[in-house]
Amino acid sequence: MDSKNFPALKNDRILKAARGEPVDRVPVWIMRQAGRYLPEFREFRKEHEFFEICQTPEYACEITLQPIRRFDYDASIIFSDILVIPQAMGMEVKMEPGKGPTFTSPLIDSKDLDKLNMDPIAIADYLKYVYDAITLTRHKLEGKVPLIGFAGAPWTLMSYMIEGGGSTTQSKAKKWLYTDVEGSHKLLDALTEGIVEYLYRQVVAGAQLLQVFESHAGVLNEYLFKQFSLPYLAKIASGVKAKLEANSISSVPMIVFAKDGHFAIPFLNDTPYDIVSLDWTQDPLKCREMLPDKTLQGNLDPCALYSSKEDLEKLAKSMIEKFGKTKYICNLGHGIYPDMDPEHVKWFIDFIHSC
Ligand code: CP3
Repeated sequence: MDSKNFPALKNDRILKAARGEPVDRVPVWIMRQAGRYLPEFREFRKEHEFFEICQTPEYACEITLQPIRRFDYDASIIFSDILVIPQAMGMEVKMEPGKGPTFTSPLIDSKDLDKLNMDPIAIADYLKYVYDAITLTRHKLEGKVPLIGFAGAPWTLMSYMIEGGGSTTQSKAKKWLYTDVEGSHKLLDALTEGIVEYLYRQVVAGAQLLQVFESHAGVLNEYLFKQFSLPYLAKIASGVKAKLEANSISSVPMIVFAKDGHFAIPFLNDTPYDIVSLDWTQDPLKCREMLPDKTLQGNLDPCALYSSKEDLEKLAKSMIEKFGKTKYICNLGHGIYPDMDPEHVKWFIDFIHSC
């Protein structure tokens, strides 16, 4: 499949917003827009395992396109998961119904790092199926909307690799930060190098924006964030941009999402990211002040989508008034919930477009 002769892009609102240029209407997409709230996704999942879909480019492409066929979204995001990187490093991860991702043998201490594949090129090679899915999807989108690629951030991936699944405290992973600083940096460094190569190859394959998910920022504090997250987030953005430039490939806008990291927000203004995604607990006006150089993305409470049409429109209107219509990409403050009525999603998108 050719990763050069893609169909011309018909809707570049999200790219304009990323560059700070005016738009005719606010661009909108939703985290987890391809997922269980769609009956067609649930049907497909009856036949196929979660990671089987990720690893089969035709399936990943089909699932990526499902929400684009149904709704007037201004961007698509490739169907995959952040945990494909730990898999590429040699860890087994299963998606267990009702439980979420589960690692068969989580990392116990930094001696376990010897068992991992830490070579960035080998990590990126292993994930060829993602690049193939991206190239196929870019063609199948026929230029309708841009395609977003993504990766998990190093700290979030490290915490999954140690906790072995979901955890409210992340205490096993945080124990490493307090008791094994050297081992922690060794793992974070290896993840960072692998992620840079992985995201670079996603752009080569056709991704038109990139998002980095630091979903577990909220269990850190300013001190831990500055030591174990911020330098790696910054290194990923500067590394990907430098690699693209060195290979004469046009740069793409990069989005960073440090969920629940209130202490993190002001520091993100000094990173090379173009866009900062905000969770729903953040105040748009305060964030505008803290992030004068960035386009902002977010941040409706995913639960606000349960509201009546009238209430939802009031909430969305107030959000847009606070963010303003330029340097802004509308989204939720986190992924959409599986029990959401797709009709409410349509209300939301249509209302945003009418503003
Ligand atoms: O946004 C999209 O539509 C693209 C696809 C996407 C998925 N996961 C599909 C998915 C993206 C961007 C992700 C990222 C991801 N995965 C994150 C970062 C975003 C965030 O939520 O903070 C994280 C932490 C993961 C790890 C992960 N994958 C968890 C915790 C879970 C279980 C949570 C749940 O909702 O059950 C998953 C599973 C997952 N990833 C599903 C989907 C559609 C549902 C699984 C299923 O179909 O059984």
